[in-house]
This record gives sequence, structure tokens and C-alpha cells, in this order.
Amino acid sequence: MSKIAVYPGSFDPVTNGHLDIIVRGCSIFEKVVVGVLENPDKKNGLFSIEERVELLKRSTKGMEQVEIVGFRGLLVDFVKEQHAEVILKGLRAVTDFEYEIQMAQMNKKLSPHIETLFMMTDNEYSFLSSSFVKQVAQYGGDLSEFVPEAILWDVVAKSRKGK
Ligand code: PNS
Repeated sequence: MSKIAVYPGSFDPVTNGHLDIIVRGCSIFEKVVVGVLENPDKKNGLFSIEERVELLKRSTKGMEQVEIVGFRGLLVDFVKEQHAEVILKGLRAVTDFEYEIQMAQMNKKLSPHIETLFMMTDNEYSFLSSSFVKQVAQYGGDLSEFVPEAILWDVVAKSRKGK
């Protein structure tokens, strides 16, 4: 059994909800590889792939079990490259469930030995998403409870620039 889990996502930008899953993942797995998707369908993201990776590295500084890696293509191929057998995902609410189960089933078909493990998001973050963070930032709202302190000003500055 592999002790490595891949936690995939767009992370545009990383939120405190993502960070909570990474921290809790580290208590179950020896290593958590955060896979940052370079998504050709999300060309209008706030941050580039390089920036998203850098912001995640800064947010997880000092966490020795965590590695941040960008990827393209199929998630299951990336999971194999990382010598992992588990995909770790956070579930916020029932609304996430339908899409997440479809992805998990597709990944299972593509690669039957890779398991998807769902972790319930902490109540405190059940409403939180990168999209909401971007909206709040765009209109000058207070982000301090929603994103890691280490990246707060990057999100504020980037959102201002985009105006
Ligand atoms: O943060 P997101 O955008 O919800 O993350 C979605 C992600 C990265 C998990 C998903 O888009 C993904 O796995 N993309 C890689 C393409 C792939 O493997 N597709 C087939 C399975 S549905």
C-alpha cells in the first residue's frame, strides 16, 4: 500500500479550506503531493500555473510531508508518475458530490487500482471556494479568514491589477 496521496486541483488561488485538507492529509499519509492542474479550459484564471505553484509552496512552507507539483493531462497518469495510489479530495457539500463522484468513477475506470478518498471539509470552510475568494477580492472585501496569511497580499494585489 502506497503511503503517498495526490491532492489535485486548480488552486486559483489556494484557500484556507485547501490548506486544512493538506494538513489533515498529512496525518494520514506519509506524503501529500499537491497536484496543480495546468488547465487549458481555465485560461482566464487569476494566477498562472507558475504563480499558483509558488503561492502553494509559500503557504505550506515548513511542511516537510508536502510537495507541490504542476501537471498537465490525465490525473491518473500524474498519480502513477508520483508513485501514489490514492487521490485525496475535499468534499464541501452535497453540491460537490455529483461532480466529484463522476470524476472518481471515471478515474476508477481509467485506473482501477487508484482509489479516491474523500475528506469532509471542516465546517468552518464549507462555504469557501477559490471563485468566492476571487469575487470578494475583486470588490475589496476582507480576505484574511479565507486565504493563508502568506499569500493574502498577492491575491489583493493581483485582483486590483485585473480591474
Ligand atoms: O480544483 P478543481 O478545478 O475542481 O480540480 C479539478 C481536477 C484538477 C481534479 C480535475 O479537473 C482533473 O482531475 N483534471 C485532470 C483531467 C482528468 O484526469 N480528467 C479525467 C477524469 S474526470
